[in-house]
Amino acid sequence: MSAAPDMLRIEALDAWYARAQVLFGVDLALKRGEVLAMIGRNGAGKSTLMKAVMGLATAKARAITFDGVGIAGLPAHRIARAGLGYVPEERRIFTNLTVAENLETGRRPARPGVDAWTPARIFELFPNLAGMQHRSAREMSGGEQQMLAVARTLMGNPKALLLDEPSEGLAPVIVDAMADAVMALKREGLSIVLSEQNLRFAGLVCDAAVVLSSGSLTYAGPLRPLLDDHDLLEDKLGL
Ligand SMILES: Nc1ncnc2c1ncn2[C@@H]1O[C@H](COP(=O)(O)OP(=O)(O)O)[C@@H](O)[C@H]1O
Ligand SMILES: [Mg+2]
Repeated sequence: MSAAPDMLRIEALDAWYARAQVLFGVDLALKRGEVLAMIGRNGAGKSTLMKAVMGLATAKARAITFDGVGIAGLPAHRIARAGLGYVPEERRIFTNLTVAENLETGRRPARPGVDAWTPARIFELFPNLAGMQHRSAREMSGGEQQMLAVARTLMGNPKALLLDEPSEGLAPVIVDAMADAVMALKREGLSIVLSEQNLRFAGLVCDAAVVLSSGSLTYAGPLRPLLDDHDLLEDKLGL
């Protein structure tokens, strides 16, 4: 057995806000080059899980390994520098800067032997950003801002991405453009965890799924059975 380790492995993750526990012993594995969809109702703990992995929430885990290296307890900037890109729900872009300037703020060196992301490559991935390089981010639609948030994270040349509800609040045509971009990133070899309430979007892009319900994992496996069986889905999602 010489299989490469999973890109991201979480074992027995607990998380809290003050004294309220919101994640309970969550296990999760993201295989190399795969897209894993994390499904769950509002308040299930999806965003908290991503924050916990990034070192941005009060959390405790038996282990969190990224590309074979333990990252539990590391400060957030070290986790990001290890190559884990994170696009939070609240799109972290600079509205006073242009598209091109926003991309520059995300630029970090690529690992040796890997093609660095450049604005030109970014604009191939998100063609509709190409025509607005000098536009202030403030004047962009929600969907365009979401693409810019992903683009800015890519400029850091991550090995893997955590995308928190990338399709949230987007018009259907923009959701499809975002799905195309996620598929293209997967073809580039990136491993991706995305949290989603939009099962159509998840169905377009994911290789595997997990369901969180009230802070606990209730399902891990292919998404298809959940799409085909509404009662099963409702059962896993919980109240
Ligand atoms: N900053 C916070 N302070 C206190 N409780 C929070 C905070 N953020 C989230 N929560 C609570 O933690 C639980 C999980 O929230 P969250 O991870 O945001 O869920 P999801 O992303 O799945 O909607 C919810 O009960 C939510 O109310
Ligand atoms: Mg959330």
